[in-house]
Amino acid sequence: MLQATKQLSLIDFGNVKLFINGEWTSASNGSTFSVKNPNTGEVVAEVPRGAKEETKAAIEAANGALPNWAKLTANDRADYLLKVRDLMIEHEAELATIMSIEMGKAYTEACGEVKYAASFLTWYAEEGRRVYGETIPASSPNKRLFVVKQPVGIIAAITPWNFPLAMMTRKLGPALAAGCTGIVKPASQSPLSALAFAALVKKAGIPKGVVNIVAGATAEISDEIFENPVVKKISFTGSTEVGKKLVEKSANQLKKLSLELGGHAPFIVFEDADLEKAAEGAVASKFRNAGQTCVCANRIYVHENIKERFTKLFVEKVLALKVGNSLDQTVQIGPLVSKEGLGKVQEHVEDAISKGAEVLTGGKVTGDQKGFYYEPTVLGNVTKDMIIMTEETFGPVAPITTFQNDEEVIYEANNTEYGLAAYLYTSNIQRAVTVSEALNFGVIGLNDAVPGVAQAPFGGMNHSGYGREGGHQGIKDYLEEKYISLEL
Ligand code: SIN
Repeated sequence: MLQATKQLSLIDFGNVKLFINGEWTSASNGSTFSVKNPNTGEVVAEVPRGAKEETKAAIEAANGALPNWAKLTANDRADYLLKVRDLMIEHEAELATIMSIEMGKAYTEACGEVKYAASFLTWYAEEGRRVYGETIPASSPNKRLFVVKQPVGIIAAITPWNFPLAMMTRKLGPALAAGCTGIVKPASQSPLSALAFAALVKKAGIPKGVVNIVAGATAEISDEIFENPVVKKISFTGSTEVGKKLVEKSANQLKKLSLELGGHAPFIVFEDADLEKAAEGAVASKFRNAGQTCVCANRIYVHENIKERFTKLFVEKVLALKVGNSLDQTVQIGPLVSKEGLGKVQEHVEDAISKGAEVLTGGKVTGDQKGFYYEPTVLGNVTKDMIIMTEETFGPVAPITTFQNDEEVIYEANNTEYGLAAYLYTSNIQRAVTVSEALNFGVIGLNDAVPGVAQAPFGGMNHSGYGREGGHQGIKDYLEEKYISLEL
């Protein structure tokens, strides 16, 4: 790891600072918090513990920068976004290394995330040029009616640890393209990626105050964001539990809020599916980021007639996954982000076993006990009463259960309070359409295990939140529509 950090140019692990008003800043009271490498449990950096004061300063800086940024043409803002995009691509290896060290994403997957994150800047640089207004036929000859779109103003992006770059650019890309300025509060487990990104923002010459990054005391930072009347829009990705609290907090000032919350994705394999493709898809969906994505397959439903064949293919592929230090480029499964994350996985597996599940592969903590590694695991004989079938596991465990007909599996898949992503594998076009339409989820992977792209809307239903990120939809939340009625 030390070897890896020696080559870093964007961030000095020994002297990490917050990014406020274009400057590198310490916390006013000098306090810090530790970021640990989940591969080793070692502290890799001390980060200034931003709190109320730093958040206030960041919001003030964003407010100061807003008029000039909003006044720029969409083309000028696009040029800035594309500059940052180019720098991200240029620094892919370094950004991936930082991410891998701070949150344990397998290096090659982290390189994929850098590209994914950059793609939101490309998409919104272009989408910002297409923020069209409207003219409306008037009711009298001496009137003209127009609708214009304007930036909402100061925004806050509260981002998760599992995609420290992509979930940030998925919010910042449309915000900046729309003409907003704001503050990012990265997760305390993985703030270094966001701060390295800030170095690129500076390098690209984005004016001071347009982007501010404050890591630190989550409750204090979020209180200031929600209480400060200058902040108009907040986008949060994280747990359903926290999301619900933020809805309450936003009520007082009627702040605009978008929420991308937890999921509990069903992965359905029908009798007529291409089983090789389905097994490959199940591995990709389940084990991405060691099972730590909101859209990971959490419960696998296989038609009873193909259970044996599918399970054999799936287990073979799972056995081929290499677990180890996330910086090793041959590793596919890094550690879980924390001891707590590992504990939850153990609890789900132990509960399932105690209720009759069969461990088909894995089922144990692995490694030298310093890192938070868990074996890629497949469970058979899974039943509805197991915690794993109702709660998000956020780890590399795939529970398999069976079904007999379409009605039954649609009912079971929808039988959850979540509604983020669902997957189905079938070669029957009729079934593909009817089941996709019947599933109450915001994202459907139809013979596709990784549906997320910058140009498509991503978001959930029910307890998985509201609002859409990505696509042309993703910029709408950062724009106000103003109606102008002109009497001649
Ligand atoms: C997430 O887990 O929330 C993001 C996954 C994606 O964008 O594909």
